[in-house]
Amino acid sequence: MSKKVTTATLQSYKRRGRSAVFLTAYDYPTATFAERAGVDMLLVGDSAAMTVLGHSSTVGIGMEEMIVFSKAVSYACQTAFVVGDMPFLSYQVSAEEAIRNAGALVAGGGCDAVKCEGGRRVANRIAAIVDAGIPVMGHIGLTPQNLGQLGGYRVQGKSLQTAEVLVNDALALESAGAFAILVEAVPAVTAALIRERVTVPVYGIGAGPHVDGQLVISHDILGSFVGEIEPRFVKRYADVGGTVEKAFRSYAADVRDGSFPGPEHCYPIPPDEASSIERLLVGKRKQTPQLQETDR
Ligand code: KIV
Repeated sequence: MSKKVTTATLQSYKRRGRSAVFLTAYDYPTATFAERAGVDMLLVGDSAAMTVLGHSSTVGIGMEEMIVFSKAVSYACQTAFVVGDMPFLSYQVSAEEAIRNAGALVAGGGCDAVKCEGGRRVANRIAAIVDAGIPVMGHIGLTPQNLGQLGGYRVQGKSLQTAEVLVNDALALESAGAFAILVEAVPAVTAALIRERVTVPVYGIGAGPHVDGQLVISHDILGSFVGEIEPRFVKRYADVGGTVEKAFRSYAADVRDGSFPGPEHCYPIPPDEASSIERLLVGKRKQTPQLQETDR
């Protein structure tokens, strides 16, 4: 079995120029498949609100749900580093609440670290969580918890001035003690500049190739997101949604035309028992499966 990925492992990947592979997961089966595939890091993202719970944004998910999802993911992970997302208003209100909620994701949810959205304005909260002994990943660029302020899903850091704002945010997060910074939806050159200015690993989602690792939302690459948003940076690796829908259609057709369940899906009993029970039946029925020698 591979060794557990830690913040030190991630630093050493950066030094060696090895890209970290980072995916979202919200449940035990997905996390298990990701572990088997050798994924380095899993984010239990508040995107679960949209991918799993059907919300139209990420702000409606709370700590209780995040702990349930985090537990399911961390149970599956012997190797992958698990990052739990701090949901909206779990760290903005006070340093005490930020520490308590980060602690709950680690102690209750089994996460190895937490992630907070925002730059300079959340740096003091990040410092408080780090002081409490919990590794924190920063998240700048497009921060979905602030969509209202950003004016929707918009690419960030497209001008020199806004790129510099992002660099200053990244420096503030690094000074606050963040072990890594996630950059979302920025031009590749802006991400490269941010990476060059800080020493911690910089991961990207929609931030091009010049970073220390890539994050994608598993539902996006699997084709199982039931929603309208299809970001430019998504590459589809499967059509899980199509496969699942096709399977459900076949099942529905089989139930309706009577081909499921067949004899092979029924529990066989000895012929004499079947005959005694059948004598009590008054209605029409299919043949009761008979016990075969091989079933005994
Ligand atoms: O919740 C999430 O999945 C995220 C990514 C979109 C970065 O925060």
